[in-house]
Amino acid sequence: MCSFLGSGVLIKRVICTGGAGKLGMHLACRIVNACDLKIVDLQRPSDPVLADVAFTNTNICDFEALRTQFAGHDAVVHLAAIPNPRTAPADVTFNTNVQGAWSVLQAAEDAGVKRVVVASSDSVFGLSYNPPDWPPQYLPVDEAHPLRPTEFYSLSKRITETIAESFAARGKIEVMVIRPVHVVFPPEYLELKARGADLQNYHFWAYVAPEDVAQAFHLALSAPYEGYEVFTVSAANGLNEVPTLELAAERWGTLPEVRKPEIYQSNPFASVIDISKARARLGYVPEITWRDMLL
Ligand SMILES: NC(=O)c1ccc[n+]([C@@H]2O[C@H](COP(=O)([O-])OP(=O)(O)OC[C@H]3O[C@@H](n4cnc5c(N)ncnc54)[C@H](O)[C@@H]3O)[C@@H](O)[C@H]2O)c1
Repeated sequence: MCSFLGSGVLIKRVICTGGAGKLGMHLACRIVNACDLKIVDLQRPSDPVLADVAFTNTNICDFEALRTQFAGHDAVVHLAAIPNPRTAPADVTFNTNVQGAWSVLQAAEDAGVKRVVVASSDSVFGLSYNPPDWPPQYLPVDEAHPLRPTEFYSLSKRITETIAESFAARGKIEVMVIRPVHVVFPPEYLELKARGADLQNYHFWAYVAPEDVAQAFHLALSAPYEGYEVFTVSAANGLNEVPTLELAAERWGTLPEVRKPEIYQSNPFASVIDISKARARLGYVPEITWRDMLL
């Protein structure tokens, strides 16, 4: 059982940290039959499809334990984290996410893992979870957009990216970073229409389905590349039912520079987040829209 092919290297044995989490279970269910999968988490996955998957109750801050668990594996997908600024105190969130990211990457390097795919977040841009005084510097927001995180969760993800880039620069492992926008799960479905109509929606109407994020991580495991890459991942459209640039102009008083007008010409409701790079380099094609979630 195997079958990921990254940079000419066969990837068979895969670790998924956070594989019992909301996003992690979507990814684990998607790849469980394509590789030898082991989940590293503080809880067992609740999805019955994953009942027989190898599991270890290991803290991502326990570096020595990770080294032991990672031995013999080809790839690590690192999802485990405190996933927002609301779940835990600032120090717990910062320490878990930052120390966890370093421990995972160092343990992966020590264990001879070939590729690590790391979950960051669009919060690194500093556009959400932050004081509303910093609009997008241009639209659509792409991977080159300046980063200005000002609260602890966003900052922990920015530092996670710095750690990831540093390990890639050492040349022993390939590291890919995926920045999903706000991931929408079933309890939120009934709010989506209202969020799309909310001028001040703090995710800038950007959203993505967990199935599509799982697709991006799956593709990242097998994409042919070397070194370090960052990909922003969103649905193709925003939640908005008014054209995106109209809404943006109303929200920020003036329209930020539009660097790829063709995107909004061909799709007036396109997301404020640019997924062109993920489309071109990973073959990412978002399949689920918020309207599908209402059915
Ligand atoms: N949900 C979103 O909207 C969103 C958006 C962008 C990025 N992300 C990122 O995606 C990843 C997954 O998010 P999620 O929404 O599935 O969150 P989640 O809370 O559902 O899952 C996180 C998992 O990590 C585990 N975990 C937490 N601390 C741990 C530790 N110290 N050691 C081992 N395991 C630990 C938890 O038990 C949980 O199963 C996170 O890195 C998050 O920052 C999420």
